[in-house]
Amino acid sequence: MPKLNPLIPQHPDQRDIGSLLRSVDWSFSSIAKSSLIDCRRFHWYPATFIPEIPFSLMELLAPVPSRIYDPFAGIGTTLMQALLLGHEPYGTENSRVAVTVSQSLWTLLRPDTDFSGIAEEIRIIAAEYDSLTSYEDHFHADDPRRSLLPRWFSAKTARQVTYLAYKFDTASNEALRAALTLGVSNTLKGLSAQRGGWGCIADNMIPKAPGVEDEKDAFERLARSMGILTRGLLKFRLALPNHSRALLKTAEIKDHIRHTNLVTNDFLAIQDVDLIITSPPYPSMTDYATSQRLSYYWLGHTPESDLRGEIGARRKRFSHSALEDYLSDMTSALETLSRPVRVGGYVCLVLPEFEGDRTQDKARRRVVQEVLASLPGHGLILEHQLSRFLPGRRRHHNAHWTTLEREMIYVYRRSS
Ligand SMILES: C[S@@+](CC[C@H](N)C(=O)[O-])C[C@H]1O[C@@H](n2cnc3c(N)ncnc32)[C@H](O)[C@@H]1O
Repeated sequence: MPKLNPLIPQHPDQRDIGSLLRSVDWSFSSIAKSSLIDCRRFHWYPATFIPEIPFSLMELLAPVPSRIYDPFAGIGTTLMQALLLGHEPYGTENSRVAVTVSQSLWTLLRPDTDFSGIAEEIRIIAAEYDSLTSYEDHFHADDPRRSLLPRWFSAKTARQVTYLAYKFDTASNEALRAALTLGVSNTLKGLSAQRGGWGCIADNMIPKAPGVEDEKDAFERLARSMGILTRGLLKFRLALPNHSRALLKTAEIKDHIRHTNLVTNDFLAIQDVDLIITSPPYPSMTDYATSQRLSYYWLGHTPESDLRGEIGARRKRFSHSALEDYLSDMTSALETLSRPVRVGGYVCLVLPEFEGDRTQDKARRRVVQEVLASLPGHGLILEHQLSRFLPGRRRHHNAHWTTLEREMIYVYRRSS
C-alpha cells in the first residue's frame, strides 16, 4: 500500500508524533485521489469521513496490528481502512441501516465471496420479475414495505422495489442478501419520486403525485450500483493483508460491528483498545436515521427507535433544550466509549469548529468546548489538535444553519 504522505516513517514508536501530525495536510487538498476504500462510493450516507483521515491517523498512531475502535462508525469508513492496514476493527453505531451497510461490506469482502455468481443471481432475479404479480401480498398488513415504502415511488418503480424486497427476504445465502442490501439501499433515494435532497426524505416529505417521468427502472440502477460495488470491492479485497483476510473469514461480524446506542448502553464488549478514531454527530446538523428512511422501510423496519437514540439530530434544532440535550448525551457517550481504551492508547475526535458570530454559532462553540472539557474526567489528556478546511460543497450545505468552514482533529491519550 503506497504511503499517503512520504513524511510518515515506518516505525510509530520512534517518532516525534507531534511534528509528524503537523506535517500532514489534513485538508488533503494536494493529495491525488488515493487507492483507499471510500465507502461513499458504495452507499450514500450523510457526513461520512474521507478515508484519508482515519488512514493517516492509523499510520501515525497505531503499530500493526492494533485494536481500532470507531464508536460512531457510520457506514464503516474507519473500519475498512483498519482492515486495509491489517488492524483489528471494532465499531458501534446507532443507525440500523448504517450497521447493515458496514456489515454487508464485511460479508462481501470475505475471501470466498463469488462476485460473478452474485451478479448472475441478480440478473436472474431481474429476469424473473413479473409486473402483474402482487409481491406486496408477501408482507404483513403493517409491514412498512407494504404500507409506507410504495408511497415514495411511481407505481412501476414501487412494484419493482417491492419485488426486490421480497427477493431479499427469501434470498438463499448471506452474500446475496448483503449484495442486495447494498445495491438496492444505495439506489432508493435516486429512484424515489422525491426530487429534493436527503433533507426532504428525512423530513418525510412524501412526493405528492409521482408522474410518468418518475418511472425509473430499479433493475437498471441496481445493475449500475452492483457494477461499482463489485469493481471497488474486488480491488480492495486484493489489497487486503493476510491478517485481515483471516479475520474476515473467521470472525463473527457482530463481535466487530454492533448496533448500539451509546447513550443508553453503558457496557461495551470491547477491551484493550489501542486507538479510537471517530467523528461524533455534530450538534443539530444531520438526521442520520431519517435520511435513510427509505432503506429502513425496504429492510422491513421503521427509523423510530433509532431516532430516539440519535445524538444531536437536526430535527431537534428548534427545541430549546437541543444543545443541552446534545451536551448531556455526548458526555455520557464519551464516558462509555473511552472506558475500553488501554492506558497509553489514543482517542482521536473530529469535531466542528464553529467560527461565526451568530448566536447559534457561539452557542454551539460553547457546547463543543464543554463536551471536550469532560474528557480529562475519563483519564484522557489532550496532546495535539489539528485543523482542517472542509471542502466547499460541505460548507455550502451547512451555510443555512451555521458557519462551518473548519473541523478540528483532537488527539487525546489515556494517562490513567
Ligand atoms: C459523523 S457520523 C459518522 C460517520 C462515519 N465516520 C462514516 O464515515 O461513515 C456520526 C454517526 O454517529 C451515529 N450516532 C448518533 N447517535 C448515536 C448514539 N447514541 N450511539 C451511537 N451512534 C450514534 C450516527 O448515526 C452517525 O452515523
